[in-house]
Amino acid sequence: QKAADTNKAKVLKIGAEMTFPPFEFQEEGSKEYVGFDMDLAKAVAKQMGYTAEIQNIGFDGLIPALEAGNIDMIVSGMSITEERSKKIAFSKPYYKSGLSIVVKGDNNSITSFKDLEGKRIAVQIGTTGAEEARKIKDAKVREYNSNSEAYMELKAGGVDAVVNDLPVNEYYLTKSGEKNAKIVGDIVNAEEYGMAVTKKNTELVEKVNKAIDELKKNGEYEKIYVKWFGK
Ligand code: ARG
Repeated sequence: QKAADTNKAKVLKIGAEMTFPPFEFQEEGSKEYVGFDMDLAKAVAKQMGYTAEIQNIGFDGLIPALEAGNIDMIVSGMSITEERSKKIAFSKPYYKSGLSIVVKGDNNSITSFKDLEGKRIAVQIGTTGAEEARKIKDAKVREYNSNSEAYMELKAGGVDAVVNDLPVNEYYLTKSGEKNAKIVGDIVNAEEYGMAVTKKNTELVEKVNKAIDELKKNGEYEKIYVKWFGK
């Protein structure tokens, strides 16, 4: 019989979908999962005495993976919604976000959500953006597994707009070097991201909330924030 290895931290399995920079993504040519969420998830895990083990899972597969017990926690820029809260337990919010629209640089006919009526819109499957787009009258909503595909479709002219979280749209415009695209209109839906665990795991939610508080107090959260978003 093996003696219990008391020095080894317990593993906390975390799921995320990796086409959501700067929250979770892979740098070109790298297999490593990086981003604001990844740093924060690792810091939260460490604070609770765990090591984080991160898995790349399709966005619409994250809640099923949690429910099946394949992962312990979702940290994937997931907005806290009423609908999701019926199934899973969210931590306290850790990031304020919202939805916005990206169109091609030369598109002058779409300047707000109102203008999306009857238009072709690309979104990521299972997201709040997808849900919002489906509410738009006569819109032809195309759902993609990854955000990269949604942006590619816009570039190729297959859709008129992408609806996605504002910070991810901003990252796409500034960091991907995409010159022929722009963000238009106001933010819709103030949304907040939460880490999520199963409803049964009330103990873990409390620990996560405590860890977030501690990381805010000791400056670690601020450090991670500045690393990915600047001041
Ligand atoms: N915040 C949006 C939502 O909750 C989009 C999240 C997408 N996250 C991702 N890692 N692809 O639906």
